[in-house]
Amino acid sequence: MSQLQTETIRNQRALKQREALFRRFGYDSAASLKFILAQALPLPGHVLEIGTGKGRFLAAMAKHAERITTLDVDADQQRAAKLHVSRTRVGRQIRFIAHDAEHLPWADASFDTVASMNTFHHLERPMRVFQEMLRVLKPGGKFVLCDFSPRGFQIFDRIHRFEGGTHPRLKNGLADFAHHMRHLGWKTKRSKGCNQELLVATAPSAQRKKIQK
Ligand SMILES: C[S@@+](CC[C@H](N)C(=O)[O-])C[C@H]1O[C@@H](n2cnc3c(N)ncnc32)[C@H](O)[C@@H]1O
Repeated sequence: MSQLQTETIRNQRALKQREALFRRFGYDSAASLKFILAQALPLPGHVLEIGTGKGRFLAAMAKHAERITTLDVDADQQRAAKLHVSRTRVGRQIRFIAHDAEHLPWADASFDTVASMNTFHHLERPMRVFQEMLRVLKPGGKFVLCDFSPRGFQIFDRIHRFEGGTHPRLKNGLADFAHHMRHLGWKTKRSKGCNQELLVATAPSAQRKKIQK
């Protein structure tokens, strides 16, 4: 067996163990991903993901998206995510970028869809990252943002306490982002389920933007 195969098996085992721990505390990763995709699909065109992490959302999205670029400031997390998606054929359409989401390395209007799951509560300046996500999204593009619900945060507080650590909280609720977007003429839809909160929004088209100016 090659070293890569051994690493992939070890990575997969670690992910499964972690998910079993989550389930013991009341969080079902598979059910959460299913709920989010049910609200978020379709994921049109070139998708940008913010916060690759271990690649759970990435692997789920990749079954439905043509092309994905995923960004994370931590290259080690991306290495684990690469191992995770390498098990599936969809791994081929994914590009990994190690970079800070506060300064996205792309021009305005570069992506058709921007998405992020369970990352915003880890950000020091979520508003800054939110503005960057809006900047790189094309007119008429789709925005998907999800994070834990209050009950989801309680579960992860308990998990981290059990492990002797603490878990960060969201600085801005999804309601703040939705409010901001509606003010700019976006269509927004919020939903809640499986310990997650979700905001799906559509950017105004270029024509409408011109009319607003
Ligand atoms: C809980 S993980 C994301 C989970 C992932 N979406 C999944 O589905 O498995 C949060 C990630 O946010 C990343 N992160 C935190 N601050 C960041 C920043 N300023 N720019 C980019 N990534 C950041 C962390 O490195 C971490 O990998």
